[in-house]
Amino acid sequence: MMNDRMKLSKEQEAILNGSQGEVMAKVMETLVRYGELFGADGMVPITSQYNHLVTSFGLKALGPVYDLMEKLIHAGCASSQKFTADPRPMDKNVPSSFLQNIVFNHFMYSKQEYYEGQLEKLGLVEKDAFTCTCYMDEVGNTPKQGDILSWSESSAVVYANSVLGARCNRNSGIIDLMGSVVCYVPHFGLLTDDGRKARWIVEIRTAKKPEAQLLGSAIGMKVMEDVPYIVGLDRWLGTLDEGTKAYLKDFGAATASNGAVGLYHVEGITPEAIQQGRELLVEEPNVYIIDDAELKRVYDSYPVIWKKKEARPKLCFMGCPHMSLDQLTQWTEKIEQGLKEAGKERVAIPTVFTAAPAVLKKFEETPYASRLRKAGVVISYICPLMYMNNPLSASMPVITSSNKLRTYTSARYYTDEEILEQITKGGSAS
Ligand code: F3S
Repeated sequence: MMNDRMKLSKEQEAILNGSQGEVMAKVMETLVRYGELFGADGMVPITSQYNHLVTSFGLKALGPVYDLMEKLIHAGCASSQKFTADPRPMDKNVPSSFLQNIVFNHFMYSKQEYYEGQLEKLGLVEKDAFTCTCYMDEVGNTPKQGDILSWSESSAVVYANSVLGARCNRNSGIIDLMGSVVCYVPHFGLLTDDGRKARWIVEIRTAKKPEAQLLGSAIGMKVMEDVPYIVGLDRWLGTLDEGTKAYLKDFGAATASNGAVGLYHVEGITPEAIQQGRELLVEEPNVYIIDDAELKRVYDSYPVIWKKKEARPKLCFMGCPHMSLDQLTQWTEKIEQGLKEAGKERVAIPTVFTAAPAVLKKFEETPYASRLRKAGVVISYICPLMYMNNPLSASMPVITSSNKLRTYTSARYYTDEEILEQITKGGSAS
């Protein structure tokens, strides 16, 4: 089979023609066709040490995925790259009703164990490598600047591109796996210098540090899939330390879910912005000015889709994307302080904090883990979205400070400060 639209190397052409077997040829063909759809000019090698897969859930309805995985395993196409995967969809520590458990275990995620077995055979880094924050030090799937990736988890793609300077398109699920099986990805979009230029200059003119999840939402909804170049945020963030990384993680996930951002540059902070400055801007970029009034406008525009708008929250989810070690310790202190002020010992609303298993392991080594538990908070590795994604959970009044969770589920968004107030003082939703 000859490919006349995309320029392939001899080796790539040979794989396409079956030099590594029929299954590998099909994998290559899928990627070539995928690239052609987006105007790719060729295929480039993946250079990161590990891949990351978005499909981590053994959803009963995903039969074709299990068949595909089985074919890859039997054809000896185990991923040449080991990989991490998105979070698990279930954790028995997370509060759930009898009915929810039946739905999770027997209807939705009944193939979880089987699918995890397939992932292990195909090249999962280790049995607990399930998190969307695979790039954190504790997890160790941290690409270097310039690395070419084949990821598709949107919050991880935008982090890797923006904060780490790696190069990755917003691929679809399964394409991420195919890329890492054959070790090539199509060259287009965010893999190219041109595709990494910013069409928007976003000026931050707020009187205080903007809420990460709110700012990301505002920018995502305005620029959609374009690349923004953000100025004036370095004033609030300082340097790229652990606190800034956590801020950008949450900010980026909101840009990627409330819009479709795959890369942003923050002047004075992110690597390409430091190296190239305003050279990254296209000629005559669009301008978006964000002040406190604009952030309030965005916040007020969120619809509340709870059945009873004034219902008392039944659950609070924090950690979408998964929390960092610093966030877990800082929130422990904030909750203790809030409870002390309220004269209470335990949180007023069932609350779940989520983080990567590797981060939780480190957290357990600190005295903060037992202090957080003593305050009544459940610590979990679950993906809150996978918990919410069914009619039973959707009918529950759930609160969160994750703008991604708000966007994809019925969960109601509050700022971090408002969440703290509600879980420690038991304030009603308003
Ligand atoms: Fe992560 Fe699940 Fe949220 S994958 S970003 S916790 S939706």
